[in-house]
Amino acid sequence: MARQHTLVIADHRQLTARLRWLALHAPDLARDARPGHALLVRCDDPDDQYRLLRRPLFLAATMPEIGQLALLYEPHEPGLAWLACRLPGETLDVVGLSGRPFPLNDRQCNLLLIGAGARLAALIFIARLAAPCAAVTLFAFADDQECLPPPFLLPSAIEYVTTVDTNVAASVAAVLQPTDKTSMLAWADAVVAALPQEALMELGRIMRSVRLRWARGFAQMLIESPPGCGFGACGTCAVELRGRVRLPCVEGPWFDLREVGG
Ligand code: FES
Repeated sequence: MARQHTLVIADHRQLTARLRWLALHAPDLARDARPGHALLVRCDDPDDQYRLLRRPLFLAATMPEIGQLALLYEPHEPGLAWLACRLPGETLDVVGLSGRPFPLNDRQCNLLLIGAGARLAALIFIARLAAPCAAVTLFAFADDQECLPPPFLLPSAIEYVTTVDTNVAASVAAVLQPTDKTSMLAWADAVVAALPQEALMELGRIMRSVRLRWARGFAQMLIESPPGCGFGACGTCAVELRGRVRLPCVEGPWFDLREVGG
């Protein structure tokens, strides 16, 4: 169950012109953290009209051997810009671990990860955990080179393929739509997508054209929550999947890709 914590910043650095890496000292949380878990961070800028809304940020790594967790984020709005100015040694008020962990298992030998934007943090976490026992390919999409996580965040065994284009859905189609070659979607025995809605719809369409059978659990999608209560009370994060209202902050962030569109 998510609890409130006061955590000390262990490391905070700029990775690219738009991405920052924030490591927090949290030995207990570091032991339990899994991909898909988020921290709800209080961003206390006095000039921010939304300062009471905690920012949900996906974990990008856990380092239990040194008792630390790490977040990867882009300070693209006032609350996160305030967070970007915090220094090592300062404390942050967070609630976590929030959300359900990704169901990694040892049958996922060929793992295909597809992501864009801030959601890539959760995929980096999966790649780091899965690398020792699975073949992992990560496709990362961004509208700006500076939004792509640097390769050194990933184990060297990971195949890391990046595409810079403003149209993520079209890029996903260009990379995964089968032409004369077999699609990566046919190679994979597990697919994890962390993409905007339109790109998820496109991925679902391509998946249906590539795979005759598509078992539940084969393809998972991540749906992020906007700033809100984080525990299912406010409805801010509500999305409709196959005619049912779902709350990603408590039921997600992982949902079956079969629930999107078509
Ligand atoms: S953020 Fe409040 S219900 Fe999900």
